Amino acid sequence: MIYLDNAATTMQKPRGVIEAVVQAMKTAGNAARGMGEAALWSSRLIFEVRVQVATFFNVSRPDHVIFTSNATEALNIVLNGLFIRGDHVITTDLEHNAVLRPLYRLQERGDIMLSIVPADSCGNIHLDVVESLIRSSTRAIVITHASNLTGNVVDVRRIGQLARARDILFVVDAAQTAGSMPIDMENLHIDVLCVTGHKGLFGPQGTGCLCLREGIDIRPFKVGGTGVQSFSKTQPQTYPERLEAGTLNTHGIAGLAAGISFVQSTGIEKIHRHEMSLTRRFYDGVVSLPDIQIYGDFSVDDRAPIVALNLGKIDSAIVADILSTTYGIATRAGAHCAPRMHEVLGTVSQGAVRFSFSWFNTEDEVDRAIEALRDISQHLVSNAHD
Ligand code: ALA
Repeated sequence: MIYLDNAATTMQKPRGVIEAVVQAMKTAGNAARGMGEAALWSSRLIFEVRVQVATFFNVSRPDHVIFTSNATEALNIVLNGLFIRGDHVITTDLEHNAVLRPLYRLQERGDIMLSIVPADSCGNIHLDVVESLIRSSTRAIVITHASNLTGNVVDVRRIGQLARARDILFVVDAAQTAGSMPIDMENLHIDVLCVTGHKGLFGPQGTGCLCLREGIDIRPFKVGGTGVQSFSKTQPQTYPERLEAGTLNTHGIAGLAAGISFVQSTGIEKIHRHEMSLTRRFYDGVVSLPDIQIYGDFSVDDRAPIVALNLGKIDSAIVADILSTTYGIATRAGAHCAPRMHEVLGTVSQGAVRFSFSWFNTEDEVDRAIEALRDISQHLVSNAHD
């Protein structure tokens, strides 16, 4: 199989990730909840990974790194715990349902007012539009770092500057960029960073984290045991326990740490350059095929390693199925949990075939994917003329 569905999850993991999970499966007790080497091993591991994550994203305090099961959980914790009735929130057409659905629900309940920044036909949003939507009640701007459909990257630094200048919280969904592009919370003026572990960070599924700037008050989304303050009827007020009820995924966190270590030792710039080179090679190889439609802005080099496309009017699921069954190439078709972006692109019924690349992909795999699309496209064109 040629695996080109890395925006959904990276399937090829560094060997160190697999070894770290196996080691934890053999060694881990319950962090902060037991006496003895096994529980201590887990407590130490989790402490060290908090420091590692804090260093990686430049989070001001390691105890403000909260482990979650994915970016969706991180976003749910933030979006359900941050706002008070009457707050106004700005988000965009680029968002995944992990952002949209929690916000729609809050809007429906009358808890927040929501404004959505429209994307243009290239899938970009514009800073002046974001600025024009700000009101006196605007509490947060919630935005993805990169569209999971087009791969377009948002200029988070400029939006972060705008938010900081207007005293608005800046929440970033980095599901598609963590591990593929450098993210420095301080430098980008990010107040809340939501990350998944199983994509560019090469960790296991079921891992993620929420990174908070100091001073941000988030009500706990779930409450329960933390291993400390057991006689208190309420959740501890201090982070990370405040937002981490229940036993953590220690085995997954061990794998996540190894994934981040892999990114650190390989070099995130090197990973980004490789992924961009594959993305560009693929784009250049398919852009002139007859009847092809490619979505997103390829005039810039800084993007997530994604190319979404369609061949003629053919349903994206049919193309993805032929790619898989005839050529052994794994992609993702359909709506990608990004309904507004598909509305903007006019692909609600057709969907799109998404190719997404990772460090472990090769030029040869990209070339075979180009050949496969050329073949499929030729069949389509000849069928259309029959
Ligand atoms: N959010 C993931 C994707 O875009 C699953 O495919």
